[in-house]
Amino acid sequence: MFNDSLHTMTLSDDGSYTAYSKEYDEHYHSTKDGALYESLVKHIYPAFQIKKHQKEIVILDICYGLGFNTLATLYYHKQNSLNAKLYIYSPELDKELVDSLIDFTYPKEFEEFRDIIVSLSKDGFYNDDFFHIELFLGDAREYIKRFNDKFDIVYQDAFSPSSNPTLWTRKYFSDIKKSAKNNAVITTYSISLPTRLALYENGFNLYLNSGENYRSATVASMQELKEFKKVDMEHKISCNPDVSSLRD
Ligand SMILES: C[S@@+](CC[C@H](N)C(=O)[O-])C[C@H]1O[C@@H](n2cnc3c(N)ncnc32)[C@H](O)[C@@H]1O
Repeated sequence: MFNDSLHTMTLSDDGSYTAYSKEYDEHYHSTKDGALYESLVKHIYPAFQIKKHQKEIVILDICYGLGFNTLATLYYHKQNSLNAKLYIYSPELDKELVDSLIDFTYPKEFEEFRDIIVSLSKDGFYNDDFFHIELFLGDAREYIKRFNDKFDIVYQDAFSPSSNPTLWTRKYFSDIKKSAKNNAVITTYSISLPTRLALYENGFNLYLNSGENYRSATVASMQELKEFKKVDMEHKISCNPDVSSLRD
């Protein structure tokens, strides 16, 4: 059984299951956008719109949770017959959750990845010709300090800034910036001004990720991205003079 004292499986509006965390009093995904759909439109599509032509793509998936962002990345790779080798690194604090994912009811789109789901849950590792995936059971804040100039893509998908603030601070994003390449793309569902400001204060440009049937999201990069509409941060700050980024 996946359900335990801390997690309950919940059906989301696109027909895929997500979970509710009693500890954080939050769902792992937007139940309105749908777990699989949210993962695709807020993380995988915008990131791969920029990076899909590379031969190797190195991804930091913050945090593994139910594994949707990692698994939807594999799904996108197969659907689009990409030749790139993907390297995915994903920290996750909750070992019991990762252990229990063997029993999670995933969408049919992930059926072909059953062996990968089991390997990741049992060994925290998977490798073949196209996919190299490593889970890290521990604190993401410590984990990201191991890397320098490494990641092409960062999926920033922690619980909300109000319930898990340490993964949204100015210093946290400074460590993310060091861990990532200068032309990395960061995707997140958060459109809150303090989150965008924490990125902006580290030199990131902010872009709006909006589309049909999902709540708007954010893309960030040190580089100029012509594919997305830029957020005018100076204007936002002048309209909200008391705003500040979260601090450690
Ligand atoms: C919103 S969920 C991630 C959802 C995930 N991306 C998915 O697609 O299923 C946030 C996750 O962050 C984990 N977490 C919270 N604080 C953490 C930390 N400091 N380091 C690593 N993981 C953390 C929680 O256990 C939870 O699984």
